[in-house]
Amino acid sequence: MSNAVTPSAAASRPSVKPPLWLLAELTYACPLQCPYCSNPMEIAAIKQELDTSHWFRVMQQARRMGATQLGFSGGEPLIRRDLEQLIAEARRLGYYTNLITSGVGMDEQRIKAFKEAGLDHIQVSFQASSEELNNFIAGTDAFEHKMHMARLVKQYGYPMVLCFVLHRKNEHQIREILDLAVALEADYVELATTQYYGWAFHNREQLLPTREQLVNAEKVAKEYQDKMKGRMKIYYVIPDYYEIRPKRCMDGWGSVFLTIAPDGTALPCHAARQLPGLSFPNVRDHDIDWIWSESPAFNRFRGLDWMKEPCRSCPEKEKDLGGCRCQAYMLTGDAANADPVCDKSPHHHVVTERIEHVNRLAGTREFEAKPLVFRNMKNSRKIAGSSVLSNARETAESE
Ligand code: FES
Repeated sequence: MSNAVTPSAAASRPSVKPPLWLLAELTYACPLQCPYCSNPMEIAAIKQELDTSHWFRVMQQARRMGATQLGFSGGEPLIRRDLEQLIAEARRLGYYTNLITSGVGMDEQRIKAFKEAGLDHIQVSFQASSEELNNFIAGTDAFEHKMHMARLVKQYGYPMVLCFVLHRKNEHQIREILDLAVALEADYVELATTQYYGWAFHNREQLLPTREQLVNAEKVAKEYQDKMKGRMKIYYVIPDYYEIRPKRCMDGWGSVFLTIAPDGTALPCHAARQLPGLSFPNVRDHDIDWIWSESPAFNRFRGLDWMKEPCRSCPEKEKDLGGCRCQAYMLTGDAANADPVCDKSPHHHVVTERIEHVNRLAGTREFEAKPLVFRNMKNSRKIAGSSVLSNARETAESE
């Protein structure tokens, strides 16, 4: 292990606070095929998952730095047969642990084993409120199993979060989605608006909701927030494509979140791997302290000095930190540009034009008939084989 940072060296950099959240993406393998997945489209080419001892070391190093929250995600983390061991080690280290799962691959025995290993929290995702739509979006018959798992999660005394990723294909079910959450006695409901990265970015024309859908969703979410006050917490955020100020992405680059991809690549966010000119370090070669505090990639967009105009002279720059670096790159070709969601950005039109296009055409037969590109290894291989990712819509197979 190279580049260890001594405590005294770390102390000379007071401006870099340690990571609070460690997001362990244990695998990119997943039995589901959600077309809104934010994993990279090149998942089939990313091999060599970290083994159990690597993960132990990552958890130990991050905990030593001060991380307290640990999320196990993927892909589908249940695919890892050592998940129970990882949870037990996380508990031993004193993390608060979250399992972020589709529920597929879970059974009562595992729920019990996770509890015994010390797991604190389980988040189960659903794709829709109806079996038919849920299974269509998931690309597999998962609905009944998810329902069963959600009930068991509750029965075993976990605080339960249900996550519904919203987009144009399911937004009309918002009321039924919330009724389902009430029936399953969820403690928290995340009405997670689709974030347009990875597969979701590729499918965004088919997924972006209409203005009308958003008005309705906001109204219904508010109604249930009032009705369920004190019993169920409901989080709802409108998609940032419909905003005029960008989100403070990840609470700042290299500020709070440390993501470790399945192959050990350390990232400040799940989508950063795509950014050109940045070499993201791997936990096989460097320790977490060096990666977080010293590596050029984690320092690239820290603070405010990297900003260009209009962010540089903007009075709101400390509030939103110029928005999302990955979105700036995907929509403008330069990660140091202002996030074009901001209406002060000279590129804001790329967002508004996209929104207008969707609102004009949504509901028409031809537009809605465009197939979704499902997230699976076959499509990933096909897309990786095509030289230009943006042409992948035409070449990838829809299922
Ligand atoms: Fe990478 Fe926003 S997702 S900075």
